[in-house]
Amino acid sequence: MTRVLAAPPAESRLQAVSGDGGLPVVGHTLNYIRDPLALFQQRWNKYGEVSWMTMAGKRWITVLGPDACQEVLQNKDRAFVNSDGWSLLIGPFFHGGLMLLDSEEHMRHRRIMQQAFTRERLVKSVASLNPVVAAGLDAWNPCSGFRVYPALKALTLDVATDIFMGGAEGSTPAEIAEINDSFVACVQAATSIVRYRLPRTRWKRGLDGRRMLDEFFRRYLPARRATETDDMFSVLCHIESDTGQRFTDDEVVDHMIFLLMAAHDTSTITLSTMMQYLGQHPEWQDKCRAESLGLGTDSPTLGQLDQLESVDLVMKECLRLVSPTPVVARRAIKDTEVQGHFVPAGTFAAVAPHFTHHMSEYWPDPEAFDPGRFASDRREDKVHRYAWEPFGGGVHKCIGMFFAGAEIKTIMHHLLLKFEWSVPADYVAPLNFTSLPFPEDGQPVDLRLR
Ligand code: HEM
Repeated sequence: MTRVLAAPPAESRLQAVSGDGGLPVVGHTLNYIRDPLALFQQRWNKYGEVSWMTMAGKRWITVLGPDACQEVLQNKDRAFVNSDGWSLLIGPFFHGGLMLLDSEEHMRHRRIMQQAFTRERLVKSVASLNPVVAAGLDAWNPCSGFRVYPALKALTLDVATDIFMGGAEGSTPAEIAEINDSFVACVQAATSIVRYRLPRTRWKRGLDGRRMLDEFFRRYLPARRATETDDMFSVLCHIESDTGQRFTDDEVVDHMIFLLMAAHDTSTITLSTMMQYLGQHPEWQDKCRAESLGLGTDSPTLGQLDQLESVDLVMKECLRLVSPTPVVARRAIKDTEVQGHFVPAGTFAAVAPHFTHHMSEYWPDPEAFDPGRFASDRREDKVHRYAWEPFGGGVHKCIGMFFAGAEIKTIMHHLLLKFEWSVPADYVAPLNFTSLPFPEDGQPVDLRLR
């Protein structure tokens, strides 16, 4: 039943936010997990850019369309905060992560962390990536129906372990597997319906996972403080902002846990989406492979990766079609407005780039795989500053976006040189949105050695 969220103040020019709670207890949570696009489309059709609904036990406004997303993400009157928004979903597991900080504290941490994401460091990371990716792909056993999602997930975890933790030398394979399980538990706990520490719940598994990750990083911290190496863990222990500020031990641990999470599932789903569409569009796979072969190396540098234009177009198109972060969370800490609607203090906001990416108002034939739409002679993304926003916007815009691009292109380059693959033209990935999107069937492809 449609109701308003809160009446605007008397004599205000603002409209009330309309909406509906959905089912008792779960609200619209299950609709979101099953098909966020369908849910958002219904809300867009019925209520427009801003409406309210119940999710994860709270009232949220859904912020749809590039104008509304831009207004909230740019946050000009500083009414929206990240900490309270994201904390509701992932706070117990990822507290202290850069994305969960606000205002001066966020700026201080971002300034220090920026030093870990310079082009110079990225050049070094790419050099370290090549051997890890090559070794990881050597372990793949190509076959018909090869489940590519879990294989890519294992590969990106190997990459993260190496680049972020310098290989975590001394850790046993069982320990590394436990870290992976702990991450998965933390990420999946985010959309738990039962949010208490009860036995066998996702919530409890998430909390246990966080404790395990804390212990793991604390054990390795003294060694990283003692010697400076190129891995992210060591870099975070040693970097300073231009005013000489450094992270404390607790801050390093919090950032490491968040960074591993932020870097891991996002790259995995992007790569598996790319493999799906390249498998369904052999003309694009051939084009990408021709460019990779043209580089004449299986260890490309960052500069060489920049020359892989078709892979870049495909990556952008796949980030549009399946946004690894379909919504970003915010909370209003004072009464404010979004697109002329009154939003009272305390309201949670789900800002939905994923919906914008599928709007026919901005994208011709939005469900079609058409990487050429990002080519310099078309640039369909230029139709609106926030038409394509997989990395967010405003002060919290993804700090790892260039790292992500380099990692994804390196892995794709190796895949193209080593394998050929195909996917039936009518395959539709059964995506689950319990946490970040993932294909429930592991995404089978017919994978062959070249
Ligand atoms: C395809 C890959 C990726 C996508 C789509 C992605 C997406 C995003 C988005 C949408 C945000 C903004 C969240 C918000 O506004 O609340 C964000 C923030 C962030 N991302 Fe990424 N990300 C990716 C890869 C990475 C990687 C590889 C790293 C690290 C190596 C990373 C680290 C971060 C961090 C630290 C933040 C918080 C920034 C801040 O709050 O200042 N991300 N990411």
